[in-house]
Amino acid sequence: MADEAPIGVFDSGVGGLSVLREIRARLPQESLLYLADSGHVPYGEKSPDFIRERCRVIAEFLLERGAKALVVACNTATAAGVADLRERYPALTVVGMEPAVKPAAQATRSGVVGVLATTGTLKSAKFAALLDRFASDVRVITQPCPGLVECIEAGELESPGTRALLAGFVQPLLDEGCDTLILGCTHYPFVKPLLREMVPSGVVLVDTGAAVARHLETLLVARGLLASGPARVRFWSSGDPSRLARVLPILWGENGTVSNCSV
Ligand code: SIN
Repeated sequence: MADEAPIGVFDSGVGGLSVLREIRARLPQESLLYLADSGHVPYGEKSPDFIRERCRVIAEFLLERGAKALVVACNTATAAGVADLRERYPALTVVGMEPAVKPAAQATRSGVVGVLATTGTLKSAKFAALLDRFASDVRVITQPCPGLVECIEAGELESPGTRALLAGFVQPLLDEGCDTLILGCTHYPFVKPLLREMVPSGVVLVDTGAAVARHLETLLVARGLLASGPARVRFWSSGDPSRLARVLPILWGENGTVSNCSV
């Protein structure tokens, strides 16, 4: 039997749309609820307690609207809040993000891997555990990217300001011999074209959106939760809905109606 209830997906802002796209590509029959916590973006420099509380409030909002599963489409929120959500809702399917340390450690030929992520993600115990588990044989250089999320939120994917900021983060990693770069924030896939222009062609860029969509599919199949369609996609913003609506054609690929939510 199909389960037509929607999947709830959230992020601090628009970054999770990079994951939502992968979910739609893999599971086009699934209805989706997307909440951008734009009233509180960025999460990257905020305290884990604050972010954990945001995760709780947003999860409740999505569950009240019938979500059968949650995807925390934000690395910083996953690091701070996914364990708490799993504890609160033990029967619920909850999927989070994590920087792709394992595939990057397997892909590198120089033995040097760079990680672009927020300060919150890089400082988390979850990230330290990932390094211990998968990166003992490679050198990992981490690079926080303050300001980059704000550029992407503004839809400035190729502006001179974004280019200069990104170059300042990436060049030191290349100088250290990184041949593999992990995009450890769901906003960053939106600047992949710009990154491609900046790095030599042999440098591998790794992100996890597609892997998360595959993992979600595996869980939905195993738990008998797959939908058969037709699918509907709904958007909410805790900030200015017109800002999210403006960037949807670029970041989501089509227009959408965005409702305000005061969570
Ligand atoms: C942020 O809101 O600062 C970034 C979100 C992420 O880590 O994916």
